[in-house]
Amino acid sequence: MTSSSASHPHPEPARPDRNLAMELTRVTEGAAVAAARYLGRGDKIAVDQAAVDAMRKMLSSVDIDGVVVIGEGEKDEAPMLFNGEKVGAGTGPKVDVAVDPVDGTRLTALGIGGALAVIAVAERGSMFAPGSLVYMDKIAVGEHAAGSIDIEAPVEHNLKKVAKALEKRVGDVTAIILDRPRNEPYIKAVREAGARIQLITDGDISAAIATAKEDTHVDILFGIGGSPEAVTAACAMLAVGGEMQCKVWPRDDSERQYALDEGIDLNQVLTTRDLVDSDHTFFAATGVSTGDLLEGVVFTSHGARTHSIVMRSHTGTVRFIDALHRFDRRDPIG
Ligand code: FBP
Repeated sequence: MTSSSASHPHPEPARPDRNLAMELTRVTEGAAVAAARYLGRGDKIAVDQAAVDAMRKMLSSVDIDGVVVIGEGEKDEAPMLFNGEKVGAGTGPKVDVAVDPVDGTRLTALGIGGALAVIAVAERGSMFAPGSLVYMDKIAVGEHAAGSIDIEAPVEHNLKKVAKALEKRVGDVTAIILDRPRNEPYIKAVREAGARIQLITDGDISAAIATAKEDTHVDILFGIGGSPEAVTAACAMLAVGGEMQCKVWPRDDSERQYALDEGIDLNQVLTTRDLVDSDHTFFAATGVSTGDLLEGVVFTSHGARTHSIVMRSHTGTVRFIDALHRFDRRDPIG
């Protein structure tokens, strides 16, 4: 009897494997160090440019045949790793790549905590591509409350269900919300329901992950934020067993028309699996400025210290990596 691989004319495509975790961490470390050099200097464009350049450079040596599905820049016309750009060494597994060289460029430019350099990878064809629809309405919870949310239900209903799942009183549930005028209805509804709120000025990838952390201080994410950030965060949520639901949120008629032309259903509730339909996601992030999830880059006499998180959905492993970089031996960006 012939072996299955010998008899099968089309062998299974290579999947991204565990070794990728370290490689992706090197990519976000490089981007974070580059961006952190501009901390507090008031220049958002320089922050993004430095991180994009470093990320592109570091990615070129990673053993993947990648295509950027989620790039930076549709919203703020930042210098970008553009959608459709081929990245990686061109060898290894075929993958979709989501990049956010800095989630929190404004935070970095203003010297405020909570900015991260982020990358996520999943099998080719698995990531939802929002194109130029830049915002999504989002709701996210960690593993213990997974299965109890419904983006189409009233806020109070979700808070009650999450409270029940977490065995807490509604008054002890904390919602994390991006502080924007468009999210006022969420803020009002959470207040009326008597739950607690943590408002953030930026960085809703980190906020989604925060709902799923062990010993977390936030229980549920509500609000309209970036679409790229939704897909990227979903890669992490698949690793940590959390749940996300999103709906595309068009800003105007031209975005409504764009959705129609692209066959994107504005009424569809996008589940975590709709956002990323893969059992092999990787997510890596390195702190640029110190926040709740990760410490930021610290420059030392010889180089820098970075703090990263890297996760893999197939195993659910989450690693925290504390790295010392010696610039006199090798610059992490070079
Ligand atoms: P960038 O730093 O990548 O621009 O994103 C920051 C961010 O706060 C995201 O975390 C969030 O999803 C999005 O911006 C919200 O968009 P806006 O600032 O336009 O409301």
